[in-house]
Amino acid sequence: MFSIDDLTGRCRAALGEGDVRGAVKEVLARAVSDPGAVAGALGHERGELAVLHHSPDLTILNVVWAPGMTLYPHDHRMWAAIAIYAGQEDNTFYRRRPGGLKTSGGKELRDGDVILLGDDTIHSVTNPRRQFTGAIHVYGGDFINEPRSQWDPVTQEEQPYDLEQVRREFARANGAREPERSGPAS
Ligand SMILES: [Fe+2]
Repeated sequence: MFSIDDLTGRCRAALGEGDVRGAVKEVLARAVSDPGAVAGALGHERGELAVLHHSPDLTILNVVWAPGMTLYPHDHRMWAAIAIYAGQEDNTFYRRRPGGLKTSGGKELRDGDVILLGDDTIHSVTNPRRQFTGAIHVYGGDFINEPRSQWDPVTQEEQPYDLEQVRREFARANGAREPERSGPAS
């Protein structure tokens, strides 16, 4: 049965393995092999970035993407593992170029999928579906406080990563859902 405590314990134990990233990937793959159990425990009815575990060497988030939502390019500066338990998360990858970024590929992830991202990965994320997407994101470090970068989606200007701005993006995506949720005025 899935629980946040069990997931955290298994990920922390993986930090002691020789192949930490491979071990974390295995933990996540096992968790999302029963995506319904994860969805039942975490919930994904509202876009959010919820911190499940946070320490200097490990951060675990429940990331819920609102329908149609896109988050602009950003980096992490630490390895990351993403596991999908509901819906779909489309990743676009980038490389730096003078004055901005260039696209270097993409990956569509669906429930049950797990991927590892390297320390230097730059990506943007889109939920292409009309339902919420639920994902567990695991980072090999202090995701909350590590200084890193984000890029303006229009100008591609590199800026310091701003977690509060990211949270506002989630709030805005939820707000965009409100009229649909409340239905037409009568
Ligand atoms: Fe990310």
